[in-house]
Amino acid sequence: MSTPSWSPPDVSQEGATLETFILEGMFKVDGATGAFTSLLNQLCLAAKLITTRVRRAGLADILGYTGETNVQGERVQKLDTLANDLLIATLKRRGHCAAVATEELPEAVFFPESKGSYLVVADPLDGSSNIDVNISIGTIFGIYRCDRSQGLPTTESFLRPGSEMVAAGYVIYGSSTVLVLSTGNGVHGFTWDPSAGEFFLSHENIRCPRRGNIYSINEGNAQRWTDGVRSWAAHLKESAPEQGLPYSHRYVGSLVADAHRTLFKGGIFAYPADLKSPKGKLRLLYEANPMAFVFEAAGGAATTGTERILDVVPTQLHARVPLVLGSVEDVALYQRLAHGTTAP
Ligand code: AHG
Ligand code: MN
Ligand code: MN
Repeated sequence: MSTPSWSPPDVSQEGATLETFILEGMFKVDGATGAFTSLLNQLCLAAKLITTRVRRAGLADILGYTGETNVQGERVQKLDTLANDLLIATLKRRGHCAAVATEELPEAVFFPESKGSYLVVADPLDGSSNIDVNISIGTIFGIYRCDRSQGLPTTESFLRPGSEMVAAGYVIYGSSTVLVLSTGNGVHGFTWDPSAGEFFLSHENIRCPRRGNIYSINEGNAQRWTDGVRSWAAHLKESAPEQGLPYSHRYVGSLVADAHRTLFKGGIFAYPADLKSPKGKLRLLYEANPMAFVFEAAGGAATTGTERILDVVPTQLHARVPLVLGSVEDVALYQRLAHGTTAP
């Protein structure tokens, strides 16, 4: 009697776990040491630790404010601090991260004992104003290679254009927790399965539509905008069905949530410079750059309105920039109407 050929049981209907996906990516890179893979897995662990806290925030007395203000001059939420501490503690382990710069700390944190060849930038908890009202928030991160031939990294090691990042992504703590990651070769989404304690591949090769029909901007700032931004917004509200107008307006107030919707549905997100924020509100290193990296890898676009975000060279860790993200056609229209420029 022939013995039946054994095949592994189909233990899960879901895709690969994030770890498996990262590892399989490593196998395709000749000479890979596993350090980058291990660092990405550390970021994945940080996302797991933060998501478990976020999901219980109302029960574990970690809502509300700490009473402090951070380097941004913003009131610090308990969850901001917790996420920041968890992220730094996780990155310190395994010795792949040489230093990390986050929104919550005035200076970067250096790990001199690390032999690591990577730098991490992060917004540990994005959308803080939405924490206590249970609206989607997130974590944003970017990874640079660190040139150790020049000795230990310094703050200047972080002052590089976003185009030099080797990976970037974000975690959105929404109706489900989704980690979106790009290592420059496509953009992929992984959904957290709490019953398995793993992120599973759920959105392979995410592409940003070339045009959408949603615009996302804080209309409450309209009186502070330039005339160009006002004329762009007015154009999107015109009744011209033959041009696909008017657009719908959606604004969550968490960059991660507004960007995630724009990445999937297309359209445009804009936080332009205005009278109150003459350089824009959002931070280049750990908000604009990682999002720009993801959008460009997904076939979208990201600009200050006059310059590609990933080309901007930061002058300091917490530099702010105007940020316009979205479908290539929508971003080009913004540049034309708001700044009279053409897409780069
Ligand atoms: P953070 O909570 O990390 O400080 O980020 C908040 C940012 C960003 O998430 C969002 O797009 C923007 O602030 C919203 O600003 P307004 O409330 O001024 O619209
Ligand atoms: Mn933020
Ligand atoms: Mn933040």
